[in-house]
Amino acid sequence: MVSLDKIVQFAKSTGYIYQGSELYGGLANTWDYGPLGSLLKKNIKDAWIQKFQRETEYNVLVDTSILLNSEVWKASGHVGGFSDPLTECRKCNQRFRADQLIESFDKTVDPNGWSTDQMYDYIVKQEVKCPSCGSHDFLPIRKFNMMFETHQGVVKEQADQIYLRPETAQGIFINFKNIQRTTRRKLPFGVCQVGKSFRNEITPGNFIFRTREFEQMELEFFVKPGTELEWFEYWRQYAMDWLLGLGLSKDNLQFDNHKPEALSHYSNATTDIRYQFPWGFDELWGIASRTNYDLNAHQLQSNENLEYLDPETNEKYLPYVIEPSVGVERLLLAFLTNAYDEETLDSGDIRQVLRLHPQLAPYKVAVLPLVKKLHQDKALDIYKYLSKYFDVVYDETQNIGKRYRRQDSIGTYLCITVDHDTESLNSVTIRNRDTMEQDRIKIEDLRSYIEEKIKY
Ligand code: GAP
Repeated sequence: MVSLDKIVQFAKSTGYIYQGSELYGGLANTWDYGPLGSLLKKNIKDAWIQKFQRETEYNVLVDTSILLNSEVWKASGHVGGFSDPLTECRKCNQRFRADQLIESFDKTVDPNGWSTDQMYDYIVKQEVKCPSCGSHDFLPIRKFNMMFETHQGVVKEQADQIYLRPETAQGIFINFKNIQRTTRRKLPFGVCQVGKSFRNEITPGNFIFRTREFEQMELEFFVKPGTELEWFEYWRQYAMDWLLGLGLSKDNLQFDNHKPEALSHYSNATTDIRYQFPWGFDELWGIASRTNYDLNAHQLQSNENLEYLDPETNEKYLPYVIEPSVGVERLLLAFLTNAYDEETLDSGDIRQVLRLHPQLAPYKVAVLPLVKKLHQDKALDIYKYLSKYFDVVYDETQNIGKRYRRQDSIGTYLCITVDHDTESLNSVTIRNRDTMEQDRIKIEDLRSYIEEKIKY
């Protein structure tokens, strides 16, 4: 398994991910996605939309606001309860999440579901050490709300206090009636959303794994009460199959079913899909059966009836909800670490190759003139033609071997070389990133050849 340091270094040097605000000394735990990183992010989101929305008969897509009426967050419980247990080392004043302190102190202990008193007792009795200075003297735990506050309006003093959304899900719940009415959907049906969320995390870190600004891809799947556990199983497996289909190694994935005592009060089943990141298995994707908790909360807070009229039974009820929710950046980190490879060739040379699934590779194809002076015009014609259909990059600097290596290392799936025979034979060579094998292909067949190679 590649180390996190190596992935950070690789991401910075290739143009996948840069330190945020680097020019001004950086802003801790913020990251900017460069030319490659933004294409990879886009491909992950497109692949998710394709699988979770387009390819199902059940789901539609929405794009709701980041800024919502604060009543939404009161109803959902975020204003009152979206908090992490914060403690502080009395000696060095470093702040920590108490549950994470306990987990890293003893990996066999799971403080999920513990009260703050239970956690503090444990920390004191077990003499848990401060990871920063080594002492064991912590302040009592207090609840720290992770909502980012801001103000809406021109005069700050009079402006309304509002919040940046900490999840995209609530935008879906508050539009349940609108969506159901305008699409005339019957249960079961689902609503997908991809968008930014913000959380004032106490301990962001592990590169892009936990940040204060991130993107989520969430599905709220509405079902008839009583059928929710079947659908929970369905989406849990659907999510896992999608990850495997995109090349994540089976050995590095596992389901972590929450024990009944660790479930949130509104959930009757929750699973995390965990991935083996460079520091060990950690949460990638949360999948929860949330009963009718959110719709009920909004119905009470808004005084609007959010019930569904079942056309088969004529009953009215609040649907139950299954929610698979995953962070784009976490997925991106999993795909990067999974794909990074250093292969020793027969010559003894090391080939750095990023074995991303072709659907995710930032560039499907690189177009390379063998000799710039001789083959540039034809190569640019091919580049312009193919770029109507695929993400293509044109590269003419350095010798062809170095260019192949460069494309391998950033994950480009195919390399087309325009050479001395191109003009007379009307053909090019096309090289596969993983096998390094080359085919000679007629230019008029290029598009269908590439489509066939990258299809999933
Ligand atoms: N609506 C449910 C919800 O938001 P969550 O478990 O808090 O559930 C879902 O978050 C997913 O969002 C996580 O499994 C993770 O992939 C991603 N996520 C949550 N907080 C994150 C953070 N601070 N940085 C990056 N990704 C995060």
